Amino acid sequence: MELSGNGVRNGAAATAVTLIPGDGIGSEVIGAAITVIEAAGLQIKWDRQLAGAAALEAAGNPVPDELLRSLRRTHIALKGPLETSVGEGYRSVNVYLRKTFNLYANLRPTHSFEGVHTPFRNVDLVVVRENTEDLYAGIEHLVTQGVVESVKVITARASTRIARFAFEYARHNGRASVTAIHKANIMKLSDGLFLKCARKVAEEYKDIRYDEQIVDAACMRLVTNPGSFDVLLLENLYGDIVSDLCAGLVGGLGVVPGANYGERGAIFEAVHGTAPDIAGKNIANPVAAILSGAMLAAYLGYADAARRIREAVGAVLRTGSVLTPDLGGKATTTEMTAAVLRAMKASTAAYGSAAAV
Ligand code: NAI
Repeated sequence: MELSGNGVRNGAAATAVTLIPGDGIGSEVIGAAITVIEAAGLQIKWDRQLAGAAALEAAGNPVPDELLRSLRRTHIALKGPLETSVGEGYRSVNVYLRKTFNLYANLRPTHSFEGVHTPFRNVDLVVVRENTEDLYAGIEHLVTQGVVESVKVITARASTRIARFAFEYARHNGRASVTAIHKANIMKLSDGLFLKCARKVAEEYKDIRYDEQIVDAACMRLVTNPGSFDVLLLENLYGDIVSDLCAGLVGGLGVVPGANYGERGAIFEAVHGTAPDIAGKNIANPVAAILSGAMLAAYLGYADAARRIREAVGAVLRTGSVLTPDLGGKATTTEMTAAVLRAMKASTAAYGSAAAV
Protein backbone atom coordinates (compact mmCIF):
# COMPACT_ATOMS: atom_id res chain seq x y z
CA MET A 1 0.00 0.00 0.00
CA GLU A 2 1.19 3.44 -0.86
CA LEU A 3 -0.78 5.23 1.82
CA SER A 4 -2.94 7.70 0.02
CA GLY A 5 -5.11 10.44 1.36
CA ASN A 6 -7.48 12.37 -0.85
CA GLY A 7 -6.24 10.64 -4.01
CA VAL A 8 -5.62 13.87 -5.96
CA ARG A 9 -3.99 12.93 -9.28
CA ASN A 10 -1.70 14.65 -11.73
CA GLY A 11 -3.60 17.28 -13.64
CA ALA A 12 -6.08 18.01 -10.84
CA ALA A 13 -6.30 21.42 -9.18
CA ALA A 14 -3.46 22.38 -6.82
CA THR A 15 -3.76 20.81 -3.37
CA ALA A 16 -3.27 23.03 -0.33
CA VAL A 17 -0.50 21.75 1.94
CA THR A 18 0.76 23.40 5.11
CA LEU A 19 4.48 24.03 4.90
CA ILE A 20 6.44 24.21 8.15
CA PRO A 21 10.12 24.94 7.38
CA GLY A 22 11.06 24.33 11.02
CA ASP A 23 14.18 25.19 12.99
CA GLY A 24 17.90 24.60 12.47
CA ILE A 25 18.55 22.86 9.14
CA GLY A 26 14.78 22.81 8.51
CA SER A 27 14.58 25.60 5.97
CA GLU A 28 17.63 24.24 4.08
CA VAL A 29 16.32 20.68 3.66
CA ILE A 30 12.66 21.61 3.28
CA GLY A 31 13.66 24.14 0.61
CA ALA A 32 15.39 21.27 -1.21
CA ALA A 33 12.32 19.04 -0.87
CA ILE A 34 9.99 21.70 -2.28
CA THR A 35 12.24 22.24 -5.32
CA VAL A 36 12.26 18.51 -6.08
CA ILE A 37 8.53 18.02 -5.41
CA GLU A 38 7.64 20.87 -7.75
CA ALA A 39 10.06 19.63 -10.42
CA ALA A 40 8.34 16.23 -10.22
CA GLY A 41 5.14 17.95 -11.34
CA LEU A 42 3.07 18.12 -8.17
CA GLN A 43 0.64 20.97 -8.11
CA ILE A 44 0.68 22.20 -4.56
CA LYS A 45 -0.39 25.46 -3.00
CA TRP A 46 1.93 25.79 -0.02
CA ASP A 47 0.59 27.52 3.07
CA ARG A 48 3.77 28.53 4.86
CA GLN A 49 3.58 28.54 8.67
CA LEU A 50 6.00 29.00 11.51
CA ALA A 51 6.24 26.62 14.47
CA GLY A 52 8.67 25.82 17.27
CA ALA A 53 11.57 28.12 18.12
CA ALA A 54 11.08 30.19 14.96
CA ALA A 55 7.45 30.86 15.90
CA LEU A 56 8.35 31.60 19.51
CA GLU A 57 10.81 34.22 18.35
CA ALA A 58 8.51 35.74 15.72
CA ALA A 59 5.14 35.50 17.47
CA GLY A 60 5.86 34.62 21.11
CA ASN A 61 4.18 31.21 20.75
CA PRO A 62 5.72 27.94 19.52
CA VAL A 63 2.29 26.76 18.28
CA PRO A 64 0.60 29.84 16.76
CA ASP A 65 -3.19 29.74 16.17
CA GLU A 66 -2.51 30.50 12.52
CA LEU A 67 -0.59 27.21 12.25
CA LEU A 68 -3.40 25.21 13.84
CA ARG A 69 -5.98 26.91 11.58
CA SER A 70 -3.88 26.03 8.54
CA LEU A 71 -3.59 22.36 9.57
CA ARG A 72 -7.34 22.17 10.25
CA ARG A 73 -7.92 23.49 6.75
CA THR A 74 -5.38 21.41 4.78
CA HIS A 75 -5.05 18.26 6.95
CA ILE A 76 -1.64 17.75 5.31
CA ALA A 77 1.79 19.20 6.05
CA LEU A 78 5.37 18.96 4.95
CA LYS A 79 7.35 19.76 8.04
CA GLY A 80 10.94 20.48 8.96
CA PRO A 81 12.33 19.56 12.40
CA LEU A 82 11.40 21.64 15.44
CA GLU A 83 13.64 22.43 18.36
CA THR A 84 12.68 21.20 21.85
CA SER A 85 14.97 22.18 24.67
CA VAL A 86 16.23 19.48 27.01
CA GLY A 87 14.91 19.33 30.60
CA GLU A 88 13.15 22.73 30.47
CA GLY A 89 11.06 25.03 28.32
CA TYR A 90 7.89 24.38 26.35
CA ARG A 91 6.71 20.84 25.58
CA SER A 92 7.55 19.25 22.23
CA VAL A 93 5.52 20.86 19.45
CA ASN A 94 5.97 17.66 17.42
CA VAL A 95 4.25 15.58 20.08
CA TYR A 96 1.54 18.26 20.45
CA LEU A 97 0.75 18.27 16.72
CA ARG A 98 0.69 14.46 16.47
CA LYS A 99 -1.69 14.22 19.43
CA THR A 100 -3.89 17.19 18.49
CA PHE A 101 -4.45 15.92 14.94
CA ASN A 102 -4.56 12.29 16.04
CA LEU A 103 -1.71 11.29 13.72
CA TYR A 104 -1.36 7.98 15.47
CA ALA A 105 0.96 6.11 13.11
CA ASN A 106 4.55 7.11 12.52
CA LEU A 107 5.97 5.27 9.51
CA ARG A 108 9.71 5.25 8.86
CA PRO A 109 10.84 3.13 5.90
CA THR A 110 14.53 2.35 6.29
CA HIS A 111 16.57 0.61 3.62
CA SER A 112 20.12 0.36 2.37
CA PHE A 113 21.10 2.51 -0.61
CA GLU A 114 23.59 1.30 -3.16
CA GLY A 115 26.56 3.66 -2.91
CA VAL A 116 26.06 4.52 0.78
CA HIS A 117 28.77 2.63 2.60
CA THR A 118 27.91 1.17 5.99
CA PRO A 119 28.89 -2.15 7.58
CA PHE A 120 25.30 -3.33 6.99
CA ARG A 121 23.88 -4.56 3.69
CA ASN A 122 20.41 -5.31 2.42
CA VAL A 123 18.58 -3.56 5.24
CA ASP A 124 14.95 -3.20 4.26
CA LEU A 125 12.71 -2.61 7.22
CA VAL A 126 9.88 -0.35 8.22
CA VAL A 127 9.43 1.14 11.66
CA VAL A 128 5.79 1.57 12.70
CA ARG A 129 5.68 3.65 15.86
CA GLU A 130 2.63 4.48 17.97
CA ASN A 131 2.49 8.25 18.15
CA THR A 132 -0.04 9.36 20.71
CA GLU A 133 0.62 7.82 24.12
CA ASP A 134 3.20 5.91 26.21
CA LEU A 135 5.60 8.09 28.25
CA TYR A 136 4.96 10.84 25.68
CA ALA A 137 1.57 11.44 27.33
CA GLY A 138 3.54 14.12 29.18
CA ILE A 139 2.16 13.23 32.62
CA GLU A 140 5.00 13.99 35.01
CA HIS A 141 4.91 15.23 38.57
CA LEU A 142 7.05 15.90 41.55
CA VAL A 143 6.13 13.49 44.34
CA THR A 144 8.41 15.09 46.87
CA GLN A 145 11.75 16.86 46.66
CA GLY A 146 14.12 14.54 44.80
CA VAL A 147 11.39 12.16 43.61
CA VAL A 148 9.50 12.50 40.32
CA GLU A 149 7.08 10.26 38.48
CA SER A 150 6.41 9.96 34.74
CA VAL A 151 3.31 8.05 33.79
CA LYS A 152 3.33 5.57 30.93
CA VAL A 153 -0.09 5.38 29.34
CA ILE A 154 -0.94 2.40 27.12
CA THR A 155 -4.51 1.83 25.97
CA ALA A 156 -6.11 -1.11 24.17
CA ARG A 157 -7.64 1.28 21.66
CA ALA A 158 -4.36 2.88 20.56
CA SER A 159 -2.45 -0.41 20.68
CA THR A 160 -5.04 -2.19 18.52
CA ARG A 161 -5.18 0.73 16.10
CA ILE A 162 -1.40 0.84 15.55
CA ALA A 163 -1.15 -2.96 15.29
CA ARG A 164 -3.84 -2.94 12.62
CA PHE A 165 -1.97 -0.17 10.79
CA ALA A 166 1.22 -2.26 10.80
CA PHE A 167 -0.53 -5.37 9.48
CA GLU A 168 -2.45 -3.43 6.83
CA TYR A 169 0.80 -1.80 5.73
CA ALA A 170 2.53 -5.19 5.61
CA ARG A 171 -0.27 -6.78 3.61
CA HIS A 172 -0.50 -3.99 1.03
CA ASN A 173 3.25 -3.68 0.59
CA GLY A 174 4.13 -7.33 0.18
CA ARG A 175 5.83 -7.53 3.56
CA ALA A 176 6.23 -10.97 5.12
CA SER A 177 6.32 -10.30 8.84
CA VAL A 178 5.50 -7.96 11.70
CA THR A 179 7.62 -8.05 14.87
CA ALA A 180 6.15 -6.46 17.98
CA ILE A 181 8.96 -5.04 20.13
CA HIS A 182 8.35 -4.67 23.85
CA LYS A 183 9.57 -4.92 27.42
CA ALA A 184 6.63 -6.91 28.77
CA ASN A 185 8.94 -9.01 30.94
CA ILE A 186 9.30 -5.92 33.15
CA MET A 187 6.28 -3.75 32.28
CA LYS A 188 3.87 -6.63 32.47
CA LEU A 189 0.70 -4.55 32.52
CA SER A 190 1.45 -1.79 30.00
CA ASP A 191 3.62 -3.61 27.48
CA GLY A 192 1.62 -6.73 28.26
CA LEU A 193 -1.54 -4.95 27.07
CA PHE A 194 0.27 -3.72 23.94
CA LEU A 195 1.25 -7.32 23.11
CA LYS A 196 -2.19 -8.71 23.87
CA CYS A 197 -3.70 -6.27 21.36
CA ALA A 198 -1.02 -7.00 18.74
CA ARG A 199 -1.60 -10.77 19.09
CA LYS A 200 -5.34 -10.35 18.68
CA VAL A 201 -4.92 -8.26 15.53
CA ALA A 202 -2.32 -10.73 14.20
CA GLU A 203 -4.97 -13.47 14.22
CA GLU A 204 -6.83 -11.57 11.50
CA TYR A 205 -3.77 -11.54 9.24
CA LYS A 206 -2.81 -15.17 8.74
CA ASP A 207 -0.88 -14.21 5.57
CA ILE A 208 1.62 -12.15 7.64
CA ARG A 209 4.02 -13.85 10.06
CA TYR A 210 3.87 -12.39 13.54
CA ASP A 211 6.55 -12.57 16.19
CA GLU A 212 7.70 -10.68 19.26
CA GLN A 213 11.01 -9.66 20.73
CA ILE A 214 12.15 -7.87 23.87
CA VAL A 215 13.50 -4.44 22.96
CA ASP A 216 17.08 -4.91 24.21
CA ALA A 217 17.49 -8.19 22.35
CA ALA A 218 15.87 -6.60 19.29
CA CYS A 219 18.52 -3.83 19.34
CA MET A 220 21.28 -6.42 19.42
CA ARG A 221 19.67 -8.35 16.55
CA LEU A 222 19.26 -5.12 14.58
CA VAL A 223 23.01 -4.55 14.58
CA THR A 224 23.96 -8.20 14.03
CA ASN A 225 21.29 -9.35 11.60
CA PRO A 226 19.19 -6.38 10.45
CA GLY A 227 18.07 -8.29 7.35
CA SER A 228 16.04 -10.59 9.58
CA PHE A 229 13.55 -7.79 10.34
CA ASP A 230 10.71 -6.64 8.15
CA VAL A 231 7.96 -4.49 9.74
CA LEU A 232 8.70 -3.41 13.32
CA LEU A 233 5.75 -2.54 15.55
CA LEU A 234 6.64 -0.39 18.56
CA GLU A 235 5.21 1.82 21.26
CA ASN A 236 6.13 5.50 21.14
CA LEU A 237 9.40 5.62 23.13
CA TYR A 238 10.92 2.38 21.80
CA GLY A 239 9.90 3.49 18.30
CA ASP A 240 11.67 6.83 18.72
CA ILE A 241 14.90 5.23 19.90
CA VAL A 242 14.89 2.24 17.57
CA SER A 243 14.23 4.37 14.48
CA ASP A 244 17.44 6.35 15.03
CA LEU A 245 19.29 3.07 15.51
CA CYS A 246 17.82 1.84 12.22
CA ALA A 247 18.87 5.08 10.50
CA GLY A 248 22.42 4.35 11.66
CA LEU A 249 22.30 1.03 9.79
CA VAL A 250 21.72 2.67 6.41
CA GLY A 251 23.91 5.76 6.47
CA GLY A 252 22.46 7.97 9.16
CA LEU A 253 19.66 10.41 9.81
CA GLY A 254 20.33 12.24 6.56
CA VAL A 255 18.70 9.52 4.46
CA VAL A 256 15.63 8.30 6.37
CA PRO A 257 12.21 9.82 5.65
CA GLY A 258 9.05 9.58 7.69
CA ALA A 259 5.37 10.36 7.92
CA ASN A 260 2.74 10.64 10.63
CA TYR A 261 -0.64 9.31 9.49
CA GLY A 262 -4.09 9.68 11.00
CA GLU A 263 -7.61 8.92 9.79
CA ARG A 264 -8.01 12.40 8.36
CA GLY A 265 -4.58 13.69 7.48
CA ALA A 266 -0.83 13.36 7.61
CA ILE A 267 2.34 15.25 8.42
CA PHE A 268 5.44 14.33 6.44
CA GLU A 269 8.78 14.83 8.16
CA ALA A 270 12.22 13.24 8.20
CA VAL A 271 13.36 11.27 11.24
CA HIS A 272 16.15 13.73 11.99
CA GLY A 273 16.08 16.79 14.22
CA THR A 274 17.27 20.36 13.76
CA ALA A 275 20.98 19.37 13.65
CA PRO A 276 22.16 22.58 15.35
CA ASP A 277 25.80 21.55 14.82
CA ILE A 278 25.50 21.99 11.05
CA ALA A 279 22.60 24.44 10.74
CA GLY A 280 23.11 27.41 8.42
CA LYS A 281 26.18 25.88 6.73
CA ASN A 282 24.43 24.51 3.63
CA ILE A 283 25.86 21.04 4.26
CA ALA A 284 22.81 19.19 5.63
CA ASN A 285 21.83 16.11 3.67
CA PRO A 286 18.53 16.90 1.92
CA VAL A 287 17.72 13.26 1.06
CA ALA A 288 15.58 12.49 4.13
CA ALA A 289 13.42 15.56 3.51
CA ILE A 290 13.22 14.88 -0.23
CA LEU A 291 12.14 11.27 0.39
CA SER A 292 9.55 12.50 2.91
CA GLY A 293 8.35 14.64 0.00
CA ALA A 294 8.06 11.45 -2.09
CA MET A 295 5.86 9.97 0.65
CA LEU A 296 3.73 13.13 0.48
CA ALA A 297 3.51 12.76 -3.32
CA ALA A 298 2.31 9.15 -2.95
CA TYR A 299 -0.25 10.21 -0.34
CA LEU A 300 -1.63 12.86 -2.68
CA GLY A 301 -2.02 10.29 -5.43
CA TYR A 302 1.06 11.21 -7.48
CA ALA A 303 2.46 7.67 -7.51
CA ASP A 304 4.56 8.20 -10.62
CA ALA A 305 6.15 11.40 -9.27
CA ALA A 306 6.90 9.62 -5.99
CA ARG A 307 8.64 6.82 -7.88
CA ARG A 308 10.65 9.29 -10.00
CA ILE A 309 11.81 11.19 -6.90
CA ARG A 310 12.93 7.95 -5.20
CA GLU A 311 14.71 6.75 -8.31
CA ALA A 312 16.52 10.08 -8.76
CA VAL A 313 17.71 10.00 -5.14
CA GLY A 314 18.81 6.38 -5.62
CA ALA A 315 20.76 7.31 -8.75
CA VAL A 316 22.59 10.18 -7.02
CA LEU A 317 23.57 8.00 -4.06
CA ARG A 318 24.62 5.14 -6.34
CA THR A 319 26.82 7.39 -8.47
CA GLY A 320 28.37 8.82 -5.33
CA SER A 321 30.01 11.85 -6.92
CA VAL A 322 27.76 14.45 -5.25
CA LEU A 323 27.35 13.60 -1.57
CA THR A 324 27.06 15.76 1.53
CA PRO A 325 29.71 15.36 4.30
CA ASP A 326 27.58 13.00 6.43
CA LEU A 327 27.91 10.49 3.58
CA GLY A 328 31.63 11.09 3.15
CA GLY A 329 31.41 13.68 0.37
CA LYS A 330 32.08 17.38 0.08
CA ALA A 331 28.93 18.59 -1.64
CA THR A 332 26.63 21.25 -0.27
CA THR A 333 22.90 20.84 0.28
CA THR A 334 22.33 22.95 -2.83
CA GLU A 335 24.67 20.82 -4.95
CA MET A 336 23.11 17.56 -3.84
CA THR A 337 19.62 18.90 -4.52
CA ALA A 338 20.73 20.00 -7.99
CA ALA A 339 22.11 16.49 -8.61
CA VAL A 340 18.73 14.97 -7.69
CA LEU A 341 16.99 17.39 -10.06
CA ARG A 342 19.41 16.46 -12.88
CA ALA A 343 18.88 12.74 -12.25
CA MET A 344 15.12 13.24 -12.37
CA LYS A 345 15.36 15.23 -15.59
CA ALA A 346 17.63 12.61 -17.17
CA SER A 347 15.27 9.74 -16.30
CA THR A 348 12.26 11.71 -17.58
CA ALA A 349 14.10 12.39 -20.86
CA ALA A 350 15.14 8.73 -21.16
CA TYR A 351 11.60 7.56 -20.41
CA GLY A 352 10.19 10.09 -22.91
CA SER A 353 12.47 8.92 -25.73
CA ALA A 354 11.85 5.24 -24.92
CA ALA A 355 8.10 5.86 -24.97
CA ALA A 356 8.40 7.63 -28.31
CA VAL A 357 10.13 4.67 -30.01
P1 NAI B 1 19.50 15.59 15.30
O1 NAI B 1 18.76 14.59 14.49
O2 NAI B 1 19.16 17.01 15.05
O3 NAI B 1 21.09 15.41 15.06
C1 NAI B 1 21.79 14.24 15.40
C2 NAI B 1 23.08 14.15 14.55
O4 NAI B 1 22.70 13.83 13.19
C3 NAI B 1 23.83 15.48 14.47
O5 NAI B 1 25.21 15.22 14.45
C4 NAI B 1 23.40 16.07 13.13
O6 NAI B 1 24.35 16.92 12.52
C5 NAI B 1 23.17 14.82 12.29
N1 NAI B 1 22.12 15.05 11.27
C6 NAI B 1 20.80 15.12 11.47
N2 NAI B 1 20.17 15.37 10.34
C7 NAI B 1 21.11 15.48 9.37
C8 NAI B 1 21.07 15.74 7.97
N3 NAI B 1 19.92 15.95 7.31
N4 NAI B 1 22.25 15.80 7.31
C9 NAI B 1 23.42 15.57 7.94
N5 NAI B 1 23.51 15.32 9.25
C10 NAI B 1 22.37 15.27 9.97
O7 NAI B 1 19.26 15.20 16.82
P2 NAI B 1 19.60 16.05 18.16
O8 NAI B 1 20.90 16.78 17.99
O9 NAI B 1 19.45 15.08 19.23
O10 NAI B 1 18.42 17.09 18.30
C11 NAI B 1 18.51 18.46 17.94
C12 NAI B 1 17.15 19.11 18.10
O11 NAI B 1 16.22 18.54 17.19
C13 NAI B 1 16.53 18.96 19.50
O12 NAI B 1 15.94 20.20 19.86
C14 NAI B 1 15.47 17.90 19.31
O13 NAI B 1 14.41 18.01 20.22
C15 NAI B 1 15.01 18.19 17.88
N6 NAI B 1 14.39 17.05 17.20
C16 NAI B 1 13.29 17.31 16.43
C17 NAI B 1 12.70 16.31 15.71
C18 NAI B 1 11.50 16.66 14.88
O14 NAI B 1 11.15 17.80 14.75
N7 NAI B 1 10.82 15.68 14.29
C19 NAI B 1 13.22 14.93 15.71
C20 NAI B 1 14.42 14.78 16.51
C21 NAI B 1 14.97 15.80 17.23
